[in-house]
Amino acid sequence: MASIIEKRQSLHQCLARKEEENQVLRSQNTQLQALANLGSATCMIAHEINNLLTPLANYAALAVQNPDDKKLAEKALDKTVRNCLRASKIMQSMLALANGQRQERENARVKALVEEVFTCLCRDFGKDGIRVEIQIDDGLQISCIPVQIQQVLMNLVLNARDAMLPGGGLLRVSAAADTDHIDIAVRDSGHGITPENLKNIFRPFFTTKTGKDRPADSASGSGVGLAFCRRVVGAHGGEITVQSQPDQGSTFTVRLPRGRPRDDA
Ligand SMILES: Nc1ncnc2c1ncn2[C@@H]1O[C@H](COP(=O)(O)OP(=O)(O)O)[C@@H](O)[C@H]1O
Ligand SMILES: [Mg+2]
Repeated sequence: MASIIEKRQSLHQCLARKEEENQVLRSQNTQLQALANLGSATCMIAHEINNLLTPLANYAALAVQNPDDKKLAEKALDKTVRNCLRASKIMQSMLALANGQRQERENARVKALVEEVFTCLCRDFGKDGIRVEIQIDDGLQISCIPVQIQQVLMNLVLNARDAMLPGGGLLRVSAAADTDHIDIAVRDSGHGITPENLKNIFRPFFTTKTGKDRPADSASGSGVGLAFCRRVVGAHGGEITVQSQPDQGSTFTVRLPRGRPRDDA
């Protein structure tokens, strides 16, 4: 007789134990998730700082090698300082993104953002046989955290360049607007992407740039760039899409909210 009551009690105890275990596992899972987020944010920050360090070193070297050309040396040092400030800004703003802090958005001119990316890169695309075309109306503005969107564009431009080496080609950055959004398209005439790889390119650490394909002077080959782009664009309430076929080049399109007209003045 007692056995039914005992069995019931033992079942209840068992259930309570399992619930406790479940609770512990859930809390461990939350901690691990937080660590994983921190890990990927750290990799992304390191990747972006690396993207800025290469041109920074190039500008500084230019100044050192041309001490008699005062104008050139001054200009190169000015760029060095500006890139240092950008690196510090991107670090702060990526940490804020990882912490889930709200950051103030600004209205930014798309054309100026894109032009600044090419200035920052200190890279003569012409030397690699790459023609650059920028087709963006002066008035177009997006609502964004400018330093973050510039890093997104920098990643897309560097990937486009990698895809066109060593033969060269055409890199076109254009923008189109509808009522609420602006689409910024980065198009290259490079080697394109296979349908199989296309499914994976936004995954953190996915890269096809290994061994000899890896450009020696860049952060390419870590597979973090597009994951960073997707995270930043997503945090802006936008989206990033891609169209590509092998040997037909690639177009990456970043859709972002349009700058509010009342701020246009
Ligand atoms: N414009 C492009 N043309 C061809 N393949 C590209 C392009 N952009 C990205 N990819 C592919 O997506 C992969 C991931 O890109 P990314 O996350 O920037 O990492 P990484 O550049 O370090 O490899 C690249 O290794 C490449 O295979
Ligand atoms: Mg990349």
